[in-house]
Amino acid sequence: MNTIIADTTEQGLAGTNKRPESMQRINTAELAEAFIAEQVKAVQAQVKDKKVLLALSGGVDSSVVAALLIRAIGEQLVCVHVNHGLLRKGEPEQVVRIFREELGANLVYVDAIDRFLDKLAGVAEPETKRKIIGEEFIRVFEEEARKLDGIEFLAQGTIYPDILESGPVKAHHNVGGLPEDMDFELVEPVKLLFKDEVRVVGRALGLPENMVERQPFPGPGLGVRCLGAITRERLECVRESDAILREEFERAGLAGKVWQYFTAVPDFKSVGVRNDLRSFEYPVIIRAINTIDAMNATIERLDYELLELITERITSEVPHVNRVLYDLTPKPTGTIEWE
Ligand code: XMP
Repeated sequence: MNTIIADTTEQGLAGTNKRPESMQRINTAELAEAFIAEQVKAVQAQVKDKKVLLALSGGVDSSVVAALLIRAIGEQLVCVHVNHGLLRKGEPEQVVRIFREELGANLVYVDAIDRFLDKLAGVAEPETKRKIIGEEFIRVFEEEARKLDGIEFLAQGTIYPDILESGPVKAHHNVGGLPEDMDFELVEPVKLLFKDEVRVVGRALGLPENMVERQPFPGPGLGVRCLGAITRERLECVRESDAILREEFERAGLAGKVWQYFTAVPDFKSVGVRNDLRSFEYPVIIRAINTIDAMNATIERLDYELLELITERITSEVPHVNRVLYDLTPKPTGTIEWE
């Protein structure tokens, strides 16, 4: 069996924030198995018979950490999945199905949809929306943590780029902001891995391809794609149009090839015609970009037939939408998200 991070196995990864020069790039199933075996031992040595808490969003990093810890400590891991109402279509259901039903995780599912949407009602400023979502997330997570007895550790899906630089895709891994009396010791089994390695490990742990290959999704979720003050009606326009876009990208073989693609819905209506009658409904904006590091981005040159098909589906299947636009703006001058 290969040795991956040999010298840190005994004490776990705690305290080790530097990837050893000797560490191999994990790019095969065999190396992933060796890494998993090593981390299972390290985590067992670190937490012993104590309980570990994990905020499980369903993103690649937290999902891989969850699957790894389930293998290492089983029911000593308590996963908390907070549904803030800003997740993509089918995501909360998939998290419950895979982790609770298939992997047997000790999973607490929190339906906090009304709570988040009530807090966000009438708030249009993007950074204020982010702040509300971030703070409310911590409060919900804290409340759930207080209901549990004997938690001593907090697991996090920190990955190596999070340690190396504080780039724009960072920060959402950290459930920092918990009150001082909840000063848990951290368990971060993938913190020396790059994203592609985390995916290889996830695959070896048996996670489904669509979870392991997921495109980046911001912590505030659809909240920054339902532009301006969020309403339930427009939030559904974002969720449903995004689901159609993802389905058609999958069908066209673009999923996993285009770096990030999604829809956004502005807070204004325009005039159109539906069934020979004047309509007054929302537009949906499609964004599909490629980038290496999210600092600069180019747009994907989508096929017109695909754009027409997606437009046809969105305008006929998503209520309250009468137009579809394709955003041709690179970053800069646009950002990837609209807010
Ligand atoms: P921008 O819009 O800044 O996006 O060009 C760069 C990358 O970061 C993601 N993003 C976020 N991720 N919380 C996150 O976790 C956020 O508030 C946030 N805002 C943007 C964005 O999806 C893109 O991948």
